Amino acid sequence: VRAGLLQSGGLSSLAVGVWLRELHTETRHYIADIGQSDRTNMDALVSALRGFGDEVVLLDLRSSMAAVASDLLKYRARHDGGYWNTTGAARLVLVSEVAPLMRADGCRMLTHGCVGGGNDQRRFARYGPRIAPELPVIEPWTDPQALERFPDRETMLKAVAEHGLPLDPGSGAERSTDANLAGISHESAELEDLATPVTRLQPRWSRWPEQAPAEPQTVTVTFRDGRVADVNGSGPNPVAWMTRANDIGARHGVWLRDVVERRIIGTVCRGIYEAPGLELLERAWTRILQASLDAASRELYDRLAAGLGAAMYEARWLEPAARAARDAIDRLVGEISGSVTLSVHRGIARVEGMTVDSRVVQQTRFGSGGNRWSSGLEGESDA
Ligand code: ARG
Repeated sequence: VRAGLLQSGGLSSLAVGVWLRELHTETRHYIADIGQSDRTNMDALVSALRGFGDEVVLLDLRSSMAAVASDLLKYRARHDGGYWNTTGAARLVLVSEVAPLMRADGCRMLTHGCVGGGNDQRRFARYGPRIAPELPVIEPWTDPQALERFPDRETMLKAVAEHGLPLDPGSGAERSTDANLAGISHESAELEDLATPVTRLQPRWSRWPEQAPAEPQTVTVTFRDGRVADVNGSGPNPVAWMTRANDIGARHGVWLRDVVERRIIGTVCRGIYEAPGLELLERAWTRILQASLDAASRELYDRLAAGLGAAMYEARWLEPAARAARDAIDRLVGEISGSVTLSVHRGIARVEGMTVDSRVVQQTRFGSGGNRWSSGLEGESDA
């Protein structure tokens, strides 16, 4: 049998590669570029795994990742505490894109390096059968024999080093990080302790507000038909606007969520999240919604969005309730177009002005005086 392994380059999925070799299972590693790392690191991983004697497929999935990031924003699919669900979104992309390829390549199972009991394990277990029912999802780290062979990190590190497999810089640390174009999560080790201040974190992409430039930067975000169409001249390609928004938010200190969250299986964990692009774009999107939706529509949007946040977290995005919620939001915001200009400075993104073309706003609130105004609109908070 041939196994298809979702290979992140982190310690645990490299150890799964070693484990499968010891079981004499032919393995094909699928490495996906979802914007997580430098391409040179991924190329190094590809050649090391080929040197190890396995088959490797390197996939560029950045546009699918950006498309899901666009969904996260449109449907405001945030979890508890405002976490943008960037990790859950990546699992959806990985299974949707890679499982069909594994099947076509003759793999008989989909396997991965996620630890038992974690959210990501649950997510693969839910999306796998829904997207590729005839491809069983195998979880090595719930198998007692695998756990006996690799009882701890030291054993994994040793085995991986013996085979000359390089750890992606930034992974393999005590702390667990997970990165993609939409954002980065940091958890475990000392961050688990709620007494640890968030500033103990070394952000991977971003700067703390006090290290951000003294000069503010102006950003104009254009929305067309309910989605981002441009960020400061990036053009409409989601990879381009997501990258542009990430760069600006990261540089100016707009990125952080520090959250104590309930995992799918009910345990509690502390997560620290960098999502500069989504945090920045959300300020603009909120203002567009405030200006466009009547009160009942806005209330409905908020409720549906909360449900979709839970659906993305729990890997229920493809289920009927989530599809129906997305259809309803499409009807509420699918025709909203306009532009918001933000001034971004040391952790704050302030609305400077906007235009909105949506019909709702013209009918309800600003019918007589046109629909253009500049900063100074009072009494509204984007927070
Ligand atoms: N707590 C977040 C989530 O469940 C982040 C998980 C990070 N995953 C990881 N393998 N490091 O979405």
